[in-house]
Amino acid sequence: MSKSKLSGWLFCMLSLCVALPAFAGADAPFPADWHKWKSVNTTLTSIGSLPDCSADVSKLPSIYQKTVETYCSVKPGGPGKVAVLVSPAAMKNFELRDGKMADGANMILHLKDMKVLFVTGHKGRKPVYGVYTEDGKDITAASGPLAAETCTTCHTGYQAYCKNGQCGIKK
Ligand code: HEC
Repeated sequence: MSKSKLSGWLFCMLSLCVALPAFAGADAPFPADWHKWKSVNTTLTSIGSLPDCSADVSKLPSIYQKTVETYCSVKPGGPGKVAVLVSPAAMKNFELRDGKMADGANMILHLKDMKVLFVTGHKGRKPVYGVYTEDGKDITAASGPLAAETCTTCHTGYQAYCKNGQCGIKK
């Protein structure tokens, strides 16, 4: 093998090729000041937690049933306690559900037991998603429950519930 071919292959091994298969990267930025965001009461936070797969959720609206189905198996016993946090700048828009949040990170679904942040932001005024650990490590996957595409499918798919990326309603 020639020297340049070898170094090209090594470059690929050390960077891109290792990173590509499981990891996709977030489209929404990490909100470093998330600790300071206010939590809001919503339908989900009044339920309190995301249950495991044996829970009877047949009385909940279909989007909530689908959410449980998607996330009930990410951790034994279910994802657990949740909070919804909204950035100070986006709070007015969240309350109004007007779909007009500015670009940047705007909302968080905090999976407290898992210490994971589901982040919704906006880019060009369209919703974008990402999954982070509490200290900012990007763990957005390429496929499955932690993939940005999965967030989009649900958050954009349920037009009746979600307005430009926002699914919850402040109570
Ligand atoms: C199958 C549907 C579904 C999927 C998939 C889903 N969500 Fe949600 N999400 C919901 C519902 C329903 C709520 C509103 C819950 C409430 O507060 O009542 C919600 C709430 C949120 C919130 C709080 C703000 C809001 O919209 O009310 C954020 C942030 C969020 N999700 C981000 C994500 C991210 C990031 C992903 C992908 C990793 C994701 N969601 C995947 C259904 C889904």
